[in-house]
Amino acid sequence: MTTVDSITSSLTSLGLEKPELEIPGSNPENNVVDIFRNYIVQELHKLTSIDVQVIYNALNTPATLDKGDLILPLPQLKLKGNPKEKAEEISQQFIKGKYIEEIKPQGVFLQFYFNQSTLLSLTINDTLANKTNFGSLPGIGQNKSIIVEFSSPNIAKPFHAGHLRSTIIGGFLSNLYEKAGYKVTRINYLGDWGKQFGILAVGFDRYGSEEQLTNDPINHLFEVYVKINKDITEEGDESPTNEAAKAYFRRMEDGDEEALKIWARFRKLSIDKYIDTYKRLNIIYDIYSGESQVSQESMKDAVKLFEEKGLVHVDRGAKLIDLTKFNKKLGKCLIEKSDGTSLYLTRDVGEAIKRYNNFKFDKMIYVVASQQDLHCQQFFEILKQMGFDWANKLEHVNFGMVLGMSTRKGTVVFLDNILQETKEKMHEVMKKNEAKYAQIEDPDKIADLVGISAVMIQDMQSKRINNYEFKWDRMTSFEGDTGPYLQYAHSRLSSVQRKSGIEESELLKADLSLLTEPSAVNLVRTIAQYPDIIKKALKTHEPSTVVTYLFNLTHIVSQCYDILWVAGQEKELALARLALYASAKQVLYNGMTLLGLTPVDRM
Ligand code: ARG
Repeated sequence: MTTVDSITSSLTSLGLEKPELEIPGSNPENNVVDIFRNYIVQELHKLTSIDVQVIYNALNTPATLDKGDLILPLPQLKLKGNPKEKAEEISQQFIKGKYIEEIKPQGVFLQFYFNQSTLLSLTINDTLANKTNFGSLPGIGQNKSIIVEFSSPNIAKPFHAGHLRSTIIGGFLSNLYEKAGYKVTRINYLGDWGKQFGILAVGFDRYGSEEQLTNDPINHLFEVYVKINKDITEEGDESPTNEAAKAYFRRMEDGDEEALKIWARFRKLSIDKYIDTYKRLNIIYDIYSGESQVSQESMKDAVKLFEEKGLVHVDRGAKLIDLTKFNKKLGKCLIEKSDGTSLYLTRDVGEAIKRYNNFKFDKMIYVVASQQDLHCQQFFEILKQMGFDWANKLEHVNFGMVLGMSTRKGTVVFLDNILQETKEKMHEVMKKNEAKYAQIEDPDKIADLVGISAVMIQDMQSKRINNYEFKWDRMTSFEGDTGPYLQYAHSRLSSVQRKSGIEESELLKADLSLLTEPSAVNLVRTIAQYPDIIKKALKTHEPSTVVTYLFNLTHIVSQCYDILWVAGQEKELALARLALYASAKQVLYNGMTLLGLTPVDRM
């Protein structure tokens, strides 16, 4: 059943007419709250003649449920007269119909409380009928495409905290845009080019092992890289080792097939390994691109275009662009070294042009640490000055640092090491509850999934730009707002359902009028907010928007357990309550998978 059918047909069965307003940005087919919003807009428009879009935009979600389901600051409507008096007046004249239970004037605000039985039926039916599609807003990005570039580690170098955060945040944003109907292309832009590959090739000759390379390419290449770098530091920049490395990279840049062969192998083996690791985080890339994939010609073309636009000046053989003309903060930047080799910045310019030519995207997001704010501003500005009108479709989504991220063993951190160690730690925590532990079928698997949630939620629970400290004990705890707590909440909802013995197919027949307790109603009011949360996250690009919502949801669910029993109740009541829990579980599931987690049913 499609969403369109379910909300509209629920309305019909409730004897309600759908407010027939066309408001850009409103998604009444997929968002129950928008049905109520549209109704309120329609009635307020009749009373005030204010433009429907203006009223729609002014209707916000209050911070807490006691302030209503929607709140409207009257000054935003710019009505003549005293807003406080207007609030009184409107609240008396407003026709509540079957949509609104109560409208309260509160100073210059109007607080709207939805009709409970209408809200309950629409919301619970919508979640149960649409399942994993509940909350999707396919209208927003219809026929639009987006590229999300994220993770982008460097081959033969550590996968550091910046890459971890980029992976987590980028995975979430890709899922989010998919839910909003965009065609999403996930790109991993590897650091797979540069002088370090000359060094690595020379190093591999000296220290490499074929066997280790095939077994564990990522760690082995890093070991080789560390050893050869140590040699170069000891022998000096002028040493034959360093010269050989430089010469090797030169040959690579010149397209020498022999030189490129070994590099291509390092790259391929590393990517194969990455594919597996990302899969554990539910991430699948459409494209493994990288600095190596930017062609020499495209960069030569780019530099030529800079020159034609009069943007370039030459200093001791190197080419520079002076961006201070456009923005003082951007400074002067090097675009080509004196020996003609390209640079990180120029490659980003070339790669962006290639991506636009291939995809004609409507938007492209770079998920990169805030240390590279200036770098991103620079290449965005360069593209703009080159005259590409699509330069304004690029967006840098940045984030702060992780402090103290090293493994307990103190070894260098690769994504695999982090996940392995979290799993072990999680396993220890789980073992502390012996009785429960004994019931888990595949503890290793559960420890892995719950451990991954611990790392991811710790990362996503506050604003991106904040730094945070990597804390093993806190993140793996089942208490407080942690990943394991969310997993626990999900598995408890699954267990309620299992123990009830009620078939899922029966839930849609539940008599929801039996759900009268305030905690049941509050839970539904919160569930109904989910599509709006998706919409908000699309604006903020903050995973914390979703994480905060999910914690709020699970706290309300846990209050319900004390009052709304399923076990031992007569059938009809048990069925209604179970429908409520199933609906909550669906939203929790949708939110967790949106974040990139794999919800568990037992733990
Ligand atoms: N590989 C880079 C690094 O580790 C990150 C790449 C970011 N993306 C980009 N298009 N520059 O610092």
